[in-house]
Amino acid sequence: MDEKAVQMPVIHRSWDLPLPLIERGEGIYLWDQDGKRYIDGSAGSSVVVTIGHGVQSVVDAMYEQGKKVCFAAPHVFSNEPMLELGKMVAERAPGTLRNNCRTWFGTTGTDAVDSAVRTAREYFVFTGKPSKFAVVGRWQAFHGNSIAVAGIHGHTDRRRLFYPMYRNSPHIPPAYCYRCHFEKTYPECDLKCARALETAIRQEGPENVAAFIAEPVVGAALGSVPAPPGYFQVIRDICDRYDVLMIVDEVMTGFGRIGHWFGIEEWEGVTPDIIATAKGMTSGYTAMSATIAKEEIWQIIQEGGLPFLAGHTMNQNPVSCAGGVAVLKYLEEKNLLANSKEVGAYLLERLHELLELDIIGDVRGKGLMCGLEFVKDKETKEPFPRELKVGRRFELEALERGLILFAGRGCVEGAMGDMMLVTPPLVITRQQVDEMMDILKETTKAIQAQVLG
Ligand SMILES: Cc1ncc(COP(=O)(O)O)c(C=O)c1O
Repeated sequence: MDEKAVQMPVIHRSWDLPLPLIERGEGIYLWDQDGKRYIDGSAGSSVVVTIGHGVQSVVDAMYEQGKKVCFAAPHVFSNEPMLELGKMVAERAPGTLRNNCRTWFGTTGTDAVDSAVRTAREYFVFTGKPSKFAVVGRWQAFHGNSIAVAGIHGHTDRRRLFYPMYRNSPHIPPAYCYRCHFEKTYPECDLKCARALETAIRQEGPENVAAFIAEPVVGAALGSVPAPPGYFQVIRDICDRYDVLMIVDEVMTGFGRIGHWFGIEEWEGVTPDIIATAKGMTSGYTAMSATIAKEEIWQIIQEGGLPFLAGHTMNQNPVSCAGGVAVLKYLEEKNLLANSKEVGAYLLERLHELLELDIIGDVRGKGLMCGLEFVKDKETKEPFPRELKVGRRFELEALERGLILFAGRGCVEGAMGDMMLVTPPLVITRQQVDEMMDILKETTKAIQAQVLG
C-alpha cells in the first residue's frame, strides 16, 4: 500500500483504503508497485478486459495511429480506423442486424445507452409518433451513471439519491429465478417476468412507450444473472406487437463475454433493434463505446433532416477505433469466444463446489460471466444485514490473497442482498481457474467464519 495514493489531490472510487499503485499487467495477472501479483478475477473491476492485459498488438495499433493523427474534428473528418471498426462490428452483429446496421461510436457505456434511447426517441418523432418517449426498464438492472440514465436503470443504490433530478421510467421485475418476483419456478412460471412487459406497456399506454431496455445477463445489479431460455423471445414478440423498440444493453456481455459476439445470440432467433455496448470492445485499452441500430432506424433519422442529436467531443476517436480493431482481431485469432464458452462452463462447474459452504446461496452465470450470491440462511434465502457489508469484506479478503473481484449489493429490493461477480478475462485457462478457485474457497471459509461465527 502506498500512502501517496491517499495524499494526492484526486478522488478514488474507494474512500476507505490507501490503494496499491498499479505497475503492469499480463494476461489475467496484474502487479502492483510492491511486486504483489493479483489475478484479475473481475476483468478490470467491472467486466471490461476481454483479451487480457499487456497485448502488444493493441498498443502498437494505437501507437501507429497516434503517430499519424490522434484527434480530428468529427464534424469535418471521417477516419479509417472508425470505418474499419464499423465494418467489423456490422459483420459480427447478431441476427438480422448482420450487415444491416450502422454504429455510432462513443466513449462510455453510459453514453452508449443514452444514445440508444435518443435513437429510439428520434426514430418515433420522425415516423410521426411523437408521443412515444417512455423507456421501460427493469428493477435490479444497471445501465450507466448519468442522471438521465439513472431514471431508466433499476439499481437502487445508484439512483435513489438523485431521485428528484430525473424522470422516472416504468420498471418491471427482473428475470431472476433464484428470487422470483412471482414466486414461481421455471419453466412452469410461463415467463411471467417477461410477460410483465405487456402489462407495463398497456398501463403506460403503448402510444407513449418508445423502448424497452435489458441486459442479457445482469451484471453489477444482480451478480451475473442470465435471463432464462425463452425470455427474450417473449420480449421480442411483445415489443413487435406494441411498436416498441427493443434495446439490449451489451455493455458487459458484448464481444465474447458469454461466448458469442453479442450475448443476445444466446436467445435463438432474437434480434434487438438497438444495442448499446462498450467495455469488451476495446478491452480497457482505451475508452470506447458503441450504439448499434438497424439500418431502417438510421435511415428514418437521417431523412428527418437533423444530425443525430447525441455527440460528445471524443466520439469516433481514431486512436480508440484503431485499438478496437486490434482487439476484435485478437479475439478472433485466439479463438476467445470459444474459450469463453468452454472455460466458462468449467468455471461455473467449479463454482458450484462453493455451494457446500453455508453462506453461498446461489451460483450462476453464462460463459465467463459468473457470479455468487451470499445468504445468511440457505433455507429461507435471508440476506445478510446491510451493515455487515459482506460483499465488500469478501472483496477485501480476496484482494489480500491476490484475487481481484467486484462486489454488488441490492438483489433484495434494492437495499440488501450481497453478490460477487466472477468474470476473469477471456484468455483464462482451466489451470488458472483452479488457481482462482483455491483463493475463492479460502476466502469463502474466512468470511463465513467472520459473519456466521
Ligand atoms: C450493463 C451496463 N450498462 C452500462 C454501464 C455503464 O458503462 P460506463 O461505466 O462505461 O459508463 C455499465 C457499467 O458497469 C454496465 O454494466
